[in-house]
Amino acid sequence: MTVHTGKHFLQIPGPTNVPDRVLRAMDVPTIDHRGREFAQLGLEVLEGCKAVFRTKNPVVIYPSSGTGAWEAAIVNTLSPGDKVLMVETGHFATLWKGLAEKFKLDVEFLPGDWRRGAQPEEIGVRLADDRQHRIKAVMVVHNETSTGVTSRIPEIRRAIDRAKHPALFLVDTISSLGSIEYEHDAWGVDVTVCCSQKGLMLPPGLASMQYRRRLSPQQRPTRRAGPIGIGKRSSSRTRTVRGLTRLPPIFSTACAKRSRC
Ligand SMILES: Cc1ncc(COP(=O)(O)O)c(C=O)c1O
Repeated sequence: MTVHTGKHFLQIPGPTNVPDRVLRAMDVPTIDHRGREFAQLGLEVLEGCKAVFRTKNPVVIYPSSGTGAWEAAIVNTLSPGDKVLMVETGHFATLWKGLAEKFKLDVEFLPGDWRRGAQPEEIGVRLADDRQHRIKAVMVVHNETSTGVTSRIPEIRRAIDRAKHPALFLVDTISSLGSIEYEHDAWGVDVTVCCSQKGLMLPPGLASMQYRRRLSPQQRPTRRAGPIGIGKRSSSRTRTVRGLTRLPPIFSTACAKRSRC
C-alpha cells in the first residue's frame, strides 16, 4: 500500500496541479445537470471563457479530453480528402497529425527538429506555392507540451495573409491558454482548441473551442470528416447559448472553471 506523507504533488506535464482555490470551488453539493441552476452556472462560465480566450464571440464547451477537442475541430471544419498543412513541433503535433490522417485528411507535415516552433516563413512559402488553394487549413500547436517550445501565432497569421491564402487557421492551445499570452480575436485565429487540464490548471475533461466566424462557402466542409457526436458546432452552440451542454456536463469541472474566469 502506498502511504502519502503529505499533499500529493503530481509532477508530469499534464494534468497539472489544480490550485487550492479551484479545488475549493468544486466542493459544492451536486445540482440538477439539466436544471436552471446549472444553466446559470453554464452561462457564467461561458461569459468568463470569452475573457480567457480573449474573444468577443461565444465559446463552446463540452465534456472531452484534448484529443476529443482535436477531433471536434477537424470534424466541424474539414472534409475527408481535404489537404491540410501541419508542422512537426513535437510529440503532440505528431499525434494531431496521426488523428487528422485517421479522419482521411491529406496531411502535409512540415518537418521540424522538435527544438523550435513552427516557422512562419516556411508556412508562408508553402502557401504562396499553393496557387490553386488546395490547402484548406493550417494546423499548429501553440505550446508543445512535450518540449516547451512555443510557436509565434500572430506571425503565422501574417504569413497566411501575406500569401493571400484562404486556409483556415486552427490552433491547439491545450497547454497554453491561461498560462501563456494568447489572443484569439486579435491574432486572427479561426479555431482555437482547448481543454481544461493543462494551461487552465483545472481537472481533466472539459474541452472548449472558439470558432471565429462563419465559414465562407469555400471554407465550409462538403462532407464532414467523421461522425459529429462530440462537439458538433451547431448544436453545441445552440445549447450553450442557454448555458447547457449537449452531452452530460461535468459539473465539478464547470464549478472549477467558473473560479478561473
Ligand atoms: C498540446 C497538447 N495537445 C493535445 C493534448 C491531448 O490531450 P488529452 O491527453 O487530454 O487527449 C495534450 C495533452 O496531453 C497537449 O499537451
